[in-house]
Amino acid sequence: MAFPTERPRRLRRTETLRRMVRETTLSTDDLIWPMFVKSKGKDEAIDAMPGVFRYNPSRAAEEASKAFAAGIPAVILFGIPDSKDALGSASWEEDGVIQQAVRKIKKAVPEMIVMADVCLCEYTDHGHCGVIKDGEVDNDATLDLLARQAVSFVKAGADVVAPSDMMDGRVGFIRDELDNSGFTDRAIMAYSVKYASSFYGPFREAAGSAPEFGDRKGYQMDPANEREAFREVELDLEEGADIIMVKPALAFLDVISSVRQITDLPIAAFNVSGEYSMVKAAANAGMIDERQIVMEILTGIKRAGADLILTYHARDVAGWLEGRR
Ligand code: PBG
Ligand code: ZN
Repeated sequence: MAFPTERPRRLRRTETLRRMVRETTLSTDDLIWPMFVKSKGKDEAIDAMPGVFRYNPSRAAEEASKAFAAGIPAVILFGIPDSKDALGSASWEEDGVIQQAVRKIKKAVPEMIVMADVCLCEYTDHGHCGVIKDGEVDNDATLDLLARQAVSFVKAGADVVAPSDMMDGRVGFIRDELDNSGFTDRAIMAYSVKYASSFYGPFREAAGSAPEFGDRKGYQMDPANEREAFREVELDLEEGADIIMVKPALAFLDVISSVRQITDLPIAAFNVSGEYSMVKAAANAGMIDERQIVMEILTGIKRAGADLILTYHARDVAGWLEGRR
């Protein structure tokens, strides 16, 4: 049967009808809010990311509490340490910025899920995600440091650790070390499919984590590749990942969609800094309707197959979803 019998417009006639046949819905339950934490001082605005701030641990706990009250179940923390060295040792200190923030957030809102990004680039003086040997990022020597960091975050109370370094074997290595330390109950959200993307530019300004030399193409994935994503996902599944992440989101919706076909685990997608900044710049220039654009983008990421979305828009979205009811 076809036109004139078939008329798809019949189900688009009123908002209530559209609501009834809607296939994808965005909920605050899907959101993970990324936060930048520094050791002390006033909130610091990040020029490249309007509306995003670096908070000290106490302020981070206040803002996380407000986010939880607004319906956002989880935050993911990125640390800006006071000092950096070749190994990133500030990241596993008992009183490091993340450790302090985790303790304060868990105390303020125990039910909130606190995730901690595990990587060295924010803590190393050279800005790479691993240890440098002979001018290269050494995979195997990095694993031990990542695990030290992960165990330290979890000891402070983190519910989930999220390795973003892209070293081979790190998920299994971190899983073993968590288990050996008695933390069999804490989850790993693996940045399994992480591309070497220019969309991370604003984040590197926010976190002060740009590499001093070279780039990350020797460990992060080539944006041209999709089959390689399957290989990365399969390895992380074998190594014990609990949540699989694809990052960035917008230029990689096809990858989210095909990863959906090969795993039953929850999939998270990272709506990264550059994606956020582009929307903010266009909105602040009066070129687009920010609210409509953000809802369309996040709904698209869910429709592609993501269960969870890490997004700097989380607080705004929670407000809009609340207002809609
Ligand atoms: C650390 C890390 C990065 C992001 C998340 N974890 C930056 C990078 O790999 O250079 C990017 C997040 C964003 O752009 O919002 N490795
Ligand atoms: Zn890194």
